[in-house]
Amino acid sequence: MKTTTAKIIRELGGLMPRTAIILGSGLGGLVDSLDMQVRIPFSELEGFPQSTVSGHSGELVAGKLAGQPIILISGRVHYYESGDASAMRTPIECLKAIGVENLILTNSAGSVDEDMGPGSVMQITDHIDFSGLNPLIGEPSDNRFVGMTNAYHANLSAALARAASDAGIKLFDGVYMWFSGPSFETPAEIRMSRILGANAVGMSTVPEVILAKFFDLNVAAFSIITNYAAGMTGDELSHGETKEMAPKGGENLTKILISWLENNQV
Ligand code: HPA
Repeated sequence: MKTTTAKIIRELGGLMPRTAIILGSGLGGLVDSLDMQVRIPFSELEGFPQSTVSGHSGELVAGKLAGQPIILISGRVHYYESGDASAMRTPIECLKAIGVENLILTNSAGSVDEDMGPGSVMQITDHIDFSGLNPLIGEPSDNRFVGMTNAYHANLSAALARAASDAGIKLFDGVYMWFSGPSFETPAEIRMSRILGANAVGMSTVPEVILAKFFDLNVAAFSIITNYAAGMTGDELSHGETKEMAPKGGENLTKILISWLENNQV
């Protein structure tokens, strides 16, 4: 961990980002918008995981966006790739160690709500860990008993919601329910998730939120809605559809993030 952290700090060459964004599908293009780019492939960072999902390449990219230093983590690793819910622990621990305070998580998700269609952006206000998994299983310290009452940081989330409004972009908010994947949900599971209070369903992010709280980072999170969830239309779901639809909501989420960076010292 220490050597990995030292390597990142060395490569950043004086850039000291206090904000990092974990990019889900649909936001990958953001890495090309950074000025003064430093790119470090996960393969050069000890303890960083290797993604196996098409559309997710593993790199830590640092640079300036809207004039502010920022780190982008492209190529998150999901639980379903290897059965390890703590796959993103080292990257998140390293972010904390190099001085990052705000972690913004993004994902693509299916909508459970009729009025939140594909292309929408939803800010996650709370979540349901339906997988029954937890990235802190096996963590020996008492710090494993992480409070999740305020998992999503009120001030950071509010500032991002203001940025959406400043940019004239409709931002939904709601509860994200984590399914392990990689198979999609059944229509019955989606009816259940609606009854339990979910607005969107997906296969990532929740373990990262838990890890980020464990490492005492401020968390905000967004879902790009790529489809109506299973059974809501006559159509079958596919990863192809996720990849095809993600850039649409991704464009709006990018505008929200840039508006936030332009109007806040982060
Ligand atoms: N379910 C789970 N994960 C997803 C979905 C979905 O409908 N769409 C994009 N990621």
